[in-house]
Amino acid sequence: MSKYKEIENYYNQTQILYDLVYSKGTHSLHYGYWYENTKNTKESILNNNKFIMESLDANSNDKILDAGCGIGGISLYLAKHTNAKIEGITLSEVQLKKARKLADKFKFSKNINFSIQDYTKTEYNDKSFTKIFGVESICYANKKIDFIKEAYRLLKKGGKLVVTDGFQIREYLNKKENKIYDDWLGGWGLTNLATVNSFQNDLKKIGFRKINYYDKLKDIKRTRNRIYNIGALAYVFSWILYKLGIFSNYMHKNTIACINQKKVFADENNIATYGVFVAEK
Ligand SMILES: C[S@@+](CC[C@H](N)C(=O)[O-])C[C@H]1O[C@@H](n2cnc3c(N)ncnc32)[C@H](O)[C@@H]1O
Repeated sequence: MSKYKEIENYYNQTQILYDLVYSKGTHSLHYGYWYENTKNTKESILNNNKFIMESLDANSNDKILDAGCGIGGISLYLAKHTNAKIEGITLSEVQLKKARKLADKFKFSKNINFSIQDYTKTEYNDKSFTKIFGVESICYANKKIDFIKEAYRLLKKGGKLVVTDGFQIREYLNKKENKIYDDWLGGWGLTNLATVNSFQNDLKKIGFRKINYYDKLKDIKRTRNRIYNIGALAYVFSWILYKLGIFSNYMHKNTIACINQKKVFADENNIATYGVFVAEK
């Protein structure tokens, strides 16, 4: 099975879990940012969306690509707050249908167009966009540089790229750490993470300038803990449903990944961090 098919299947089968236990009406599938005065999960997720909007410096003159849009939560947020024109792309048919329904429901169909496309090889013309972002989506590219190249082709001169993701800290992991890391990656349909350095080098290599990196590990910790709690509480239930054939392999592995992500994004293990790259063409 091709890697893309694997990602497509993963999201087609697990989107329901995100809807049921995580997104809290934000239509988003990413970690939240918890600041001192953040009251709940919904607000933390919206804090992340706001960070993207501000990093992009998004406004009504922009044409923006949401690369790996999920069910379109961030596109909807940007359309609502900036009135920009947005293209959202995903690999999952289930996500596409939901994203289109939401755009209709919130009357943003004129601003936002969703489609199935691979962000490393899109159908758009050169220089189609003023801004491009990917939130917890570029990590799915086997070689991140393939996305970076495509983003560079698609951006107008002076255009901005924002990528929010997990990044591996150390290249070398011992056997125990590798097991934790692999169970997490596999459980969420991932194969590898870039390191902060390799991603930065790839941006430079392709020609991006004004590259800044913001580490956000501290701000996601409460979401990390919450996802762990969901996984730990759901584990036995998930295992029973899996054994009964009600949960697919993807669904059960997702539960295990929810537990392991806490170990991956832990200061003491120093395996991965979470951060945002902002760069300009
Ligand atoms: C964790 S979800 C994040 C969704 C959204 N950015 C959010 O934060 O709510 C990852 C998304 O990346 C998409 N994705 C992964 N690889 C992709 C590719 N090669 N081309 C387009 N989308 C991709 C998946 O289909 C999924 O929608």
